[in-house]
Amino acid sequence: MKKDRALNISIRSRRLRRTSGIRRLFSETEVSPAHLVAPLFVIDGQGKPESIPSLPGHFRFPITALVRETHRLARRGVGGIAIFPCISQRLRTPNGKEALNPKGLVYRAIRTLKKELPEFPIFADVALDPYTSHGHDGLLDQTGKDVANDATVRLLMKQATLLADAGADFVAPSDMMDGRVGYIRKALDQSGFTETGILSYAAKFATSLYGPFRDAVGSAQSAGTHSLDKRGYQADPANRRAILKDALLDEKEGADVLMVKPAGPYLDILRDLRESTLLPLAAYQVSGEYAQIHAAAQKGWVDLRKARAESLLSIRRAGADLIFTYFAKDF
Ligand code: PBG
Repeated sequence: MKKDRALNISIRSRRLRRTSGIRRLFSETEVSPAHLVAPLFVIDGQGKPESIPSLPGHFRFPITALVRETHRLARRGVGGIAIFPCISQRLRTPNGKEALNPKGLVYRAIRTLKKELPEFPIFADVALDPYTSHGHDGLLDQTGKDVANDATVRLLMKQATLLADAGADFVAPSDMMDGRVGYIRKALDQSGFTETGILSYAAKFATSLYGPFRDAVGSAQSAGTHSLDKRGYQADPANRRAILKDALLDEKEGADVLMVKPAGPYLDILRDLRESTLLPLAAYQVSGEYAQIHAAAQKGWVDLRKARAESLLSIRRAGADLIFTYFAKDF
């Protein structure tokens, strides 16, 4: 067959895209289940798992079911889980004191999981939002409008120590108080938990994308709204320099892993951090990112599998080692 007369184009990138075999050879980025961490929600009692309408495919699991689900994830090769308690509304108080009840739900769940699957990594959130009646991540100050930094940090130090004692491999402060990483490190070390790691939610933005999570842990219900205003402590989505400074401070204070959250809309931040630190990086593809892809797929407007794979690949490409994602199980 006569070929068309070629134009004078000597460099042709399409040579490396020609067949699926060639494309595979030159692929620069991979997502494997080992890089993924599945967020799981736990509730008290012996009942059935409760579905979470705004997080299709996700449930609040009673501890027995949580263990079964974790076994399934481990069998599928998922890298670890992040555990979030949804405690009963009547245990929520302004000062979130249930967070320091050593017999509380999350501590029992971690102990049970560690007994059943001792090697499987568990990340445990350090913050008060599942426990406060106002839904904020810390204690309110005198004005009742803002979260008090230092008083909150004192509480988080105790919470982190209890989580370590229950067996969490990593504590993950998601509260965005100043100085908390250093003080949590000190508290852990003083109690002998020198081997418990700190994954810091270092670059956590005040996004509109946390809504379904707030349904899941019930903080939307306690606060009476999804759009709880956390701009006094979470980062301004407009700011790139400011959050880089913050994240690098967490490294100095002793964080073992730094996280960017949300992931998809903040890939520039992830790349900035990748170029500024040697620490491993995590990215949290948050509930609203999952919900967006799901809702569009349900309408037939995007292909779920492709959109899911591409979203995770992009987060890896930007520089994430680990990805916290609600897609972990199905990927
Ligand atoms: C709060 C916390 C939040 C998430 C994880 N930890 C929500 C918030 O800051 O209100 C959100 C995760 C998600 O949306 O998937 N400590």
